[in-house]
Parts: sequence; C-alpha cells; structure tokens
Amino acid sequence: MFTARHVFGAVQRRSFSASTRQASKVTVLGAAGGIGQPLSLLLKLNPRVSQLALYDIRLAPGVAADIGHINTKSEVRGYDPTPSGLGDALRGSDIVLIPAGVPRKPGMTRDDLFNTNASIVRDLAKAAAEHAPEANILIISNPVNSTVPITAEVFKARGVYNPKRLFGVTTLDVVRASRFISQLKNTDPANENITVVGGHSGATIVPLLSQSGYSLTGATLDEYVRRVQFGGDEVVQAKDGAGSATLSMAMAGARFAESLLKASQGQKNVIEPTFVDSPLYKDQGIEFFASNVELGPSGVEKIHPIGKITEYEQKLLDACLADLKGNIQKGVNFIKEKP
Ligand code: NAI
Repeated sequence: MFTARHVFGAVQRRSFSASTRQASKVTVLGAAGGIGQPLSLLLKLNPRVSQLALYDIRLAPGVAADIGHINTKSEVRGYDPTPSGLGDALRGSDIVLIPAGVPRKPGMTRDDLFNTNASIVRDLAKAAAEHAPEANILIISNPVNSTVPITAEVFKARGVYNPKRLFGVTTLDVVRASRFISQLKNTDPANENITVVGGHSGATIVPLLSQSGYSLTGATLDEYVRRVQFGGDEVVQAKDGAGSATLSMAMAGARFAESLLKASQGQKNVIEPTFVDSPLYKDQGIEFFASNVELGPSGVEKIHPIGKITEYEQKLLDACLADLKGNIQKGVNFIKEKP
C-alpha cells in the first residue's frame, strides 16, 4: 500500500537530487583552525556543496589534501596567503564562512578577543567585498556581536552591502539550549528547537523557553538560562587553555550553511536563528539582532518577531539590549578609527 509517507519520501528524494545538481561553491576562511577543520570536513560530506575552497594563513593546502580524499563529489582546494590566494578562494563563492581568529582562554569573555579578531575580520571582509560581494557571509569569529557590524561597515564603505546576505552564526546557542532542556526533561534533543534571541555572548543570549511550552521556575529556570548563556565557558574551562568550542561549533556552522543551501536551492520554510541587520529594535538604536529568520534564495527572506514572552524573559531581553547596543557600537567605532 502506498502511504502519505512514501509519497513524501519520493518528493523529498526528487527535490533533493534536483537541488544537488546546482553548483554551490563554499569558502572557509580560517579553515585550518579548531573550528575550520571539522567544519570543512562536514561541508565535504554535504552533497549540496560542489566546490570547497579552504583558506588559512597556515596549513590550508594540507587540510584540503586530506579532506580531498573523501569519496564525495565536491572539488576541494586549499589556498595559502599568497598575493592571489585569498581572492581565488573567494571568487565565485556562494557562501563564505569566517571562523578565522583567536579563541578564548579560561577567564576571558568574547569581548576580550576584540582587539585581535576585529582586524582579522575587517581584512577578510575587505577581501570578500572585493572578490565575492554577492556571497552569503557567515561570521563565526567572536565577538560576533561586534564582528558582524564590522563586516557590514566594510561592505557599506565599498557600496556592496546587502543586509540580506550577512549573518552572525548563533546556531550553537540554539543547539545548546535544545540539548540542555532535553537533559532536564529527558526528551530527544533532536526534536527540541528552543528559540534563542538577542546576540552571541553572555547576557545577550536570551533563550525563550516558554515558546516551546516549557515552564521551568525558580532556581531550575535560573540555572538553565545561565547554562545557555555561559555554556561556552564550560568548554573553555574543560579545554584548560587550549581553546573554546570547536566540534559542536563546526556542527552548528555546517547546519547553518546547509540551511542556506537548502533555501537557495528552493526549499521553503527554512528557519534558523541568526544575528542579522534587523528592524526589530532599530527604534532603540540597535541595528543587529538575532531572532528566527526565514531563509530564501536571496538570503534573509523574513525576520520573525520575538512573539509572546514571559515577564522573566522580558527582563533577560532588557539586559540583552543594553549590552548589545554597546557591542554593536564598538564594532562600528573600530571601523571609523581603523578603516
Ligand atoms: P583556532 O585558533 O583554532 O583557529 C583559528 C584559525 O584562524 C587558525 O587556523 C588561524 O591560522 C586562522 N587565522 C588567523 N588569522 C587569519 C587570517 N587573517 N586569515 C585566515 N585565517 C586566519 O580558533 P577556533 O577555535 O577555530 O575559533 C575561531 C573563532 O571562532 C574564535 O574567534 C572563536 O571565539 C570563535 N567561535 C565562535 C563561536 C560561535 O558560536 N559563533 C563558537 C566558538 C568559537
């Protein structure tokens, strides 16, 4: 007997094989790092990717040679920082993921990385604006709350800024929020999808648990929120000076890239939380904000409003907005001072 499940499966398979025929070049800048290597590996396993360009200031050709032996169809090339290397890696790219920069050590906040990572992201953004102005740009390098505005300013200065194509990758916050609630409630984490809004550091990370029908209270709720906001610190401490989240981040980055590829290849209702140029709090002078975003062939298709939240969540949001404004302004000021 032919059930609805069979039909759905057949349609899925057909649309998937049609979409995999479309060429998609994906570039990773910082591809030899702790995030860059497993992220590149996961992208090599994605049949929607036809070309994978790996760039780093060290070791990218080695990583490319290694990953290039995996028996999936995509072509992999590694690029060194030669005069043409970065441009060649970027040219023709549909998606550019940027995990280049330094990670945290114990005791550091993401903002402590600003001085080093701001100029790394600025320079890579300049190259992307020149060689891949129409690509989707996915910023992973921290502090995301500032590196995304930095990238926007670089693109604006060159007249190629498209707010629909710039994304701060906050997927890991949702991955963690979903995992942590499943540990508390003994549910399957794969079926959890907790909405997380705001930004990507400490108090700017705001999980909206009530929207998934959960009503934790008291210390359990406080502890849950704290764990989502500072989950990254658990990894930084456990790695004891050797870096921050890399493997879970690679998974989160690959998931976001996969969602963009699905959307650009025509799939509907692809929704991911991400830190984008957003109208939601512009009246309060906050130009960027993470919320659920529907993705489409042109990048951002629709920015979802926050929706109904509890009083407790509103307090978290108020604290988030105060911090976020400063983080964004810091990025904008950096480009004014050091264009
Ligand atoms: P890592 O130090 O292991 O790797 C960074 C890589 O960037 C290195 O291979 C380095 O050679 C490369 N690099 C440095 N300058 C470069 C340049 N100008 N051009 C190209 N490549 C360059 O660091 P890891 O652990 O991979 O973290 C990378 C960034 O991702 C950090 O800023 C970290 O804070 C951030 N991160 C973001 C998360 C998020 O949720 N958005 C989660 C975890 C980390």
